[in-house]
Amino acid sequence: MRILRVVLCFVLLVGVVAAQPPSPTAWANDPQVEAKIDALLKQMTLDEKVGQLITYSQGAATGPGTGRSNYKEMVAQGKLGSIFNLTGADQTNEMQKIAVEKSRLHIPLLFGLDVIHGFRTEFPVPLGMSATWDPALVEQAARVAAKEASHAGVRWTYSPMVDIARDARWGRIVEGAGEDPYLGSAMAAAYVRGYQGAQLGGPESIASCTKHFVGYGAAEGGRDYNTAEIPVRLLRQVYLPPFQATVDAGGATFMSAFEALNEVPASASAMTLTQVLRKEWGFKGFVVSDWDSIGELIPQGVAADHRVASAKAFAAGVDMDMESNAYGPHLAELVKAGVVPESVVDESVRRVLRVKIALGLFEHPYADGKGSGAIAPEDAELARKAAEESFVLLKNDGGLLPLKANGKTVALIGPLADDAGQMLGSWGAKGDAKDVVTLRTALTRQVEAAQGHVIYAKGTDILTMSDKGFSDAVVAAKQSDIVVLTLGEDAVWMTGEAGSRANLDLPGNQQTLLEAVAATGKPIVLLVFSGRPLVLNWAAQHVPAIVEVWFPGVQAGPAMANVLLGTSSPGGRLTTSFPRAVGQEPLYYNHFSTGRPADGADLSRPPKTSGEKYLSRYVDVPNSALYPFGYGLTYSTVTYSATSVSSSAASAKDLNAGTAKLTVTAELKNTGGRATDEVVQLYIRQTGTSIVRPVRELKGFRRVTLAPGASQKVEFTLGRDELKFWNLDMKDVVEPAQLTVWVAPDSTSGKPAQVSIGQ
Ligand code: BGC
Repeated sequence: MRILRVVLCFVLLVGVVAAQPPSPTAWANDPQVEAKIDALLKQMTLDEKVGQLITYSQGAATGPGTGRSNYKEMVAQGKLGSIFNLTGADQTNEMQKIAVEKSRLHIPLLFGLDVIHGFRTEFPVPLGMSATWDPALVEQAARVAAKEASHAGVRWTYSPMVDIARDARWGRIVEGAGEDPYLGSAMAAAYVRGYQGAQLGGPESIASCTKHFVGYGAAEGGRDYNTAEIPVRLLRQVYLPPFQATVDAGGATFMSAFEALNEVPASASAMTLTQVLRKEWGFKGFVVSDWDSIGELIPQGVAADHRVASAKAFAAGVDMDMESNAYGPHLAELVKAGVVPESVVDESVRRVLRVKIALGLFEHPYADGKGSGAIAPEDAELARKAAEESFVLLKNDGGLLPLKANGKTVALIGPLADDAGQMLGSWGAKGDAKDVVTLRTALTRQVEAAQGHVIYAKGTDILTMSDKGFSDAVVAAKQSDIVVLTLGEDAVWMTGEAGSRANLDLPGNQQTLLEAVAATGKPIVLLVFSGRPLVLNWAAQHVPAIVEVWFPGVQAGPAMANVLLGTSSPGGRLTTSFPRAVGQEPLYYNHFSTGRPADGADLSRPPKTSGEKYLSRYVDVPNSALYPFGYGLTYSTVTYSATSVSSSAASAKDLNAGTAKLTVTAELKNTGGRATDEVVQLYIRQTGTSIVRPVRELKGFRRVTLAPGASQKVEFTLGRDELKFWNLDMKDVVEPAQLTVWVAPDSTSGKPAQVSIGQ
């Protein structure tokens, strides 16, 4: 009987273990994989080892090239282990065949690509995806990208970009999740889960590459590639967490950044690449440099030539050289000269092979090209849903939206209403403008179905100063009942890499067009297409309805038409602060309090007293954002109860030990007449602490759907992870503090509750 019970227990246990999904980091800790690597390393020549530590681009440059294109020859000799920007089953298979059949050890190639917000099915740009506040949706989108990429031979994407960006001038703010480390971490992990799937070896899984490690988003003045100075506590508290979240999610590779961080180039920083990433976080994948970032150690002034640059980057922890042509010519020689120990080379090769083996490339090196003909309908559907969820309703006076277009004439004006290419945003991967449905197409179809009529006038180009299209636009507006104006940035030239701007207004003469159309007195809905926060003061004062639509991807038109006409409701929220003036940048909600806080200062007259004057403020612009982090309206109204916390007192000791937690709740009610998505946000502030803490910090969020009249209780937990911070002694702990907690619809509102955290 007893034996039977033991056997039964064993069977049950095996069943439970078998039912568990594999751990996301399983690939990093598999003895069989390590044994295979040991066997390979024993056979590899030094040149073959170095070959695994190089990646070159097939065309599509984002920097200086290497002057090399003899890839086939290099691959056959085992001198090139990875190629990027080569896609398509036929093309990758042709090259792979050389690696697998002609190279001595038959080690397969790894093909990389910047699959940033989709491969063929382009979703909204990442900043837009973050505005969904919906990590599950982001994961699904990344899964679609992985599916399409893997069938085209691409098993490695240079995504997610998890750089925190607090300065809207920086063009690459579009590639990340905005200014907040908590939201940024949730989004970062979601991308990794989506790309890598349940396991890295799945046929439709691709390896993620978390970038750019680290501090790239803090480029001084918002100018791309510029140096960054980030004090160590801020680095730990704000910039590092999203990177760590991807390690915890099993992210297989990292990319080192271009900039010099605290005077040490990020691609030569042992502190970040080895100490933090490998020793503290236990990262077992490999680090690739950014494009020529090893070569750039020379102009940065820390290396005299490529040989020294190679030695420095390699010693710091950069395993693979992307496009610097530094490791190729120099690494083997550095080993022979005794500068670099071969055992360290072996470790880097081990990391690369670990990822290749984990991806299943040795068993399945070839792509099948499946589904390359067209976007699958269910993927287009997801792209539409993502776009709808990403839109942020900034203003809606008098309930102008959703439009009552039945039988009405709508003037559709502006350079972005019918520009398919722009909808793909920066880093469009294999996105094809032919797949894009523009707003002009979708809106015309939907308005005509409602017995209405759309008149289209481009009005102007994105960047021109010529006003020759203005008169047509004004005539169209005059003939219409409602105007939909589509204005914004040029996705490729003004956003993304090397797309920094010193001005944040509507480019070209679009502001003049906006004012000319507004002068007709017709009700205007302004759709803003941008990869960053813009300064929208004039529109905020004169235009009744404004929607931020980012660059929405292949289903841009249907998604916008649905939201404009109310088939779906906007529920996105800002993940970056929209400034009132460029001079406010860097502008972010989670700033510190000064000793002379001044929000609410009266700027309409000179200060009357010294108490009014000597405040931390500008004399010409309020400190606050025009539209703050977390902000966004809906077509309904949702009320929030007071914030309630499970206890008004807690002990730091118990919180640190993980034996205590606080439960925070609030009750929401949809008091409007429409179903709506509400992004409920949990914020905290800690005072009485050893160091100054932000005036607010996001520590939880949930996007919920509420039927008209429905109520819902939303619950969050505050424990060690949410309350700890790097304190005066540089310990990451919960300190005794006065804790203020808000459950709120954005970062500036909500009803606070207090908790006192004792020893
Ligand atoms: C960018 C990276 C990108 C790489 C490869 C670089 O210029 O900074 O983000 O992954 O090019 O295309």
